[in-house]
Amino acid sequence: MEENLETIRKTLKKYSQEHLLNMYEKLDESKQKQLLEQIKNIDFELINSLYNNTKKELEISHEEITPIEFLDKEKLNGYYKGFQETGEKAIRAGKLAAVTMAGGQGTRLGHNGPKGTFDIGLESHKSLFEILSDSLKEQGRKYDVIIPWFIMTSEENNKETIEFFAKHRYFGYEKDKNIFFFKQGELPMVDTEGKILIREDGLIKEAADGHGGIYEALVKNGMTKKMRELGVEWIFIGGVDNCLVKMVDPILMGIAIQKQVTAAGKSVVKANPQEKVGVFCKKNGRPSVVEYTEIPEEMAQATDERGELIYGESHILCNLFNINAVERMGNKPLPYHSAFKKATYIDKNGNKVIPDGPNAYKFEAFLFDAFGELDDMAILRVKREEEFAPVKNASGIDSPETARELYRKFYQV
Ligand code: UTP
Repeated sequence: MEENLETIRKTLKKYSQEHLLNMYEKLDESKQKQLLEQIKNIDFELINSLYNNTKKELEISHEEITPIEFLDKEKLNGYYKGFQETGEKAIRAGKLAAVTMAGGQGTRLGHNGPKGTFDIGLESHKSLFEILSDSLKEQGRKYDVIIPWFIMTSEENNKETIEFFAKHRYFGYEKDKNIFFFKQGELPMVDTEGKILIREDGLIKEAADGHGGIYEALVKNGMTKKMRELGVEWIFIGGVDNCLVKMVDPILMGIAIQKQVTAAGKSVVKANPQEKVGVFCKKNGRPSVVEYTEIPEEMAQATDERGELIYGESHILCNLFNINAVERMGNKPLPYHSAFKKATYIDKNGNKVIPDGPNAYKFEAFLFDAFGELDDMAILRVKREEEFAPVKNASGIDSPETARELYRKFYQV
């Protein structure tokens, strides 16, 4: 232990992070061990470079952005049936798994607990998790299969999420047989001087590494291996906060299979040029998503000869991947973006800091940053009112109120 401690002290000195051991002597033995383990797992070079990047001016991207082709589900005409048959056959054969990303902090919603446990205010008081499970089970019955369900949690909400499912008897699923829970990765948070934050219990303050952590988490936690054992070839990955997410869609599957692409994503038409959503596009000829913060105004406004937005296919976090692609992407690190957030921590003098506003950086990878690694991606435009009812904010747009209304309209309840 002593030798271990000395090596760690040296590393911390090298990276000017000696304060991480300030509370060490006051911790009990098991916490001491945990702290040393945490420190050993930190890639200090990475954290340094991520912190330094926060100081740089936003780099102008030199990537060439061009529109991406898409299919409209409403206009598949003669092809509809063929896609449906191909997709249905694969679903019936058990080749599809569903993944729900539920590791986010849901800061905008402000619910006390994992976002999936949130009650959107329906008469039934179903939580988001129950809404999703209802739809997944119904689709399974339709195709005579049980679609295996994989739930990504974070260190912060894993225990509470599993307890919630256990309390609800996994909504009819069987743990470790057809429902699986796994944790995404984490990265330490740093203050405005690049110092790693300490939590109140003396351990390091880490935060989930963004929805882009999904690929690595699926591979590292043996989930793709499990999927292969179950005969899965296609993985639908969606968020926990879309009440109308359609995780099982034979048309999307059929398109991916027939077009021989390794991924297929769903889009809805951007409500207006200013809507704060990322849109599908090509960057340097490869599939991608351009964020609303990155797209120049004239590009956001540009329309085609039919008057439709050229960059109008909103990315709604509803994507289907071939398992080979997920495994490939899971072995390749994604770039991290920084977000300035509010974080309570213990400063180097041992005082608790409760900030009024953002005071620390969190580093996150974005799921769509991996799209450029795909050979090709099919995009399917679907109807917003049928497939997209996000719960992001406590009130106003994309709130429980708007989601509830969309849900009621769609299910006629
Ligand atoms: P959002 O980007 O909307 O984040 O996540 P959020 O955590 O739900 O909410 P805010 O931004 O803090 O208010 C979209 C989806 O990705 C998941 C979320 O759980 C949600 O389903 N996600 C996000 C993760 O699973 N892990 C992450 O690290 C981030």
